Amino acid sequence: MIGSESKSASTYTHFHKKKGSSLMNEKKIEAIRNSLAKRMVTLPDGTSLPCLGQGTWYMGENPQMRDKEITALQLGIDLGMTLIDTAEMYGDGGAERLAGEAIKGRRDRVFLVSKVYPHHAGQDMISKACEDSLQRLGTDHLDLYLLHWRGRIPLAETIEGMEKLRREGKIVRWGVSNFDTADMEELLNTPDGANCAVNQVLYHLGSRGIDFDLLPWQREHNMPIMAYSPLAQGGSLRNRLLNDPVILDLAGKYRVTPLQIALAWTLRSDHVIAIPKAVQEEHVLANAEAAAIQFTQEDLIKLDQAFPKPNRKMPLDII
Ligand SMILES: NC(=O)c1ccc[n+]([C@@H]2O[C@H](COP(=O)([O-])OP(=O)(O)OC[C@H]3O[C@@H](n4cnc5c(N)ncnc54)[C@H](OP(=O)(O)O)[C@@H]3O)[C@@H](O)[C@H]2O)c1
Repeated sequence: MIGSESKSASTYTHFHKKKGSSLMNEKKIEAIRNSLAKRMVTLPDGTSLPCLGQGTWYMGENPQMRDKEITALQLGIDLGMTLIDTAEMYGDGGAERLAGEAIKGRRDRVFLVSKVYPHHAGQDMISKACEDSLQRLGTDHLDLYLLHWRGRIPLAETIEGMEKLRREGKIVRWGVSNFDTADMEELLNTPDGANCAVNQVLYHLGSRGIDFDLLPWQREHNMPIMAYSPLAQGGSLRNRLLNDPVILDLAGKYRVTPLQIALAWTLRSDHVIAIPKAVQEEHVLANAEAAAIQFTQEDLIKLDQAFPKPNRKMPLDII
């Protein structure tokens, strides 16, 4: 899946040496990549993926940020965060175009995920939506195509469209996003619905609704969760993540930042793939390093006390 990555590390280091960056060196990149390679999540078809990928929401919208965003995604790939999550919605195709630039010459090392709008997820529209995404991304296939959220088009029709794309080789597998437990039950009771590979939902320490029923359901059905906004959008969705005493205490203990603690928490099981988005080079690095944090049982209990798991069904948190 990932293949040899030493060539890309040298490419990155060379590029950065030229630009005078001192944050990274080849040895450090390799060490982080090796550490991340030990934290794999398995898809229902047996494919293994690193537990950390990269988001692209808000990328590709500002031409002045273009080079920085491309460099960030390439650094992330070199560090082992080889899954890139994008969507036709982001920047009206701008994020897909940017991701396409970032993966040029690296496509074989990347697990590419994009999403279709619900109103494009019918038999007649899904082929064109997928084709347009492929063109913007400069590739001939997606590794995973997700229904972005549930709309009015019947699930059976979307699944038929996804299966056709799969037969044509345009996508390797498909999944869903923002599906709650009842939606997942319905999906599984629809013909070919069991071919769903993942459910991408909002999940961070300050939003634990899925811990009550959806996460156990997904585990029982051997289907990973892809956690979006795992940093609560840099803490802005839950300010408490940045200054909670338990998080601050653990950040001190592991000599990391509060958001690295929050990210590591989403990765505490081998059933979650988190897709933080980062443009700042130090953020990309911090995220990749967070996968190496191994909490003790006592740490996890303290975090549970500070951010309790709900004891009743909560509506799915969505942004
Ligand atoms: N399926 C869906 O409906 C859905 C919804 C939302 C998101 N998503 C996907 O999930 C991805 C991630 O979610 P998100 O973008 O909403 O939020 P996020 O990843 O939780 O947070 C991104 C924000 O955190 C900052 N950041 C990143 N790493 C950091 C670090 N180590 N320390 C401090 N700040 C850090 C980023 O800043 P910089 O960029 O400046 O570095 C950015 O402002 C999206 O990009 C998208 O691909 C999917």
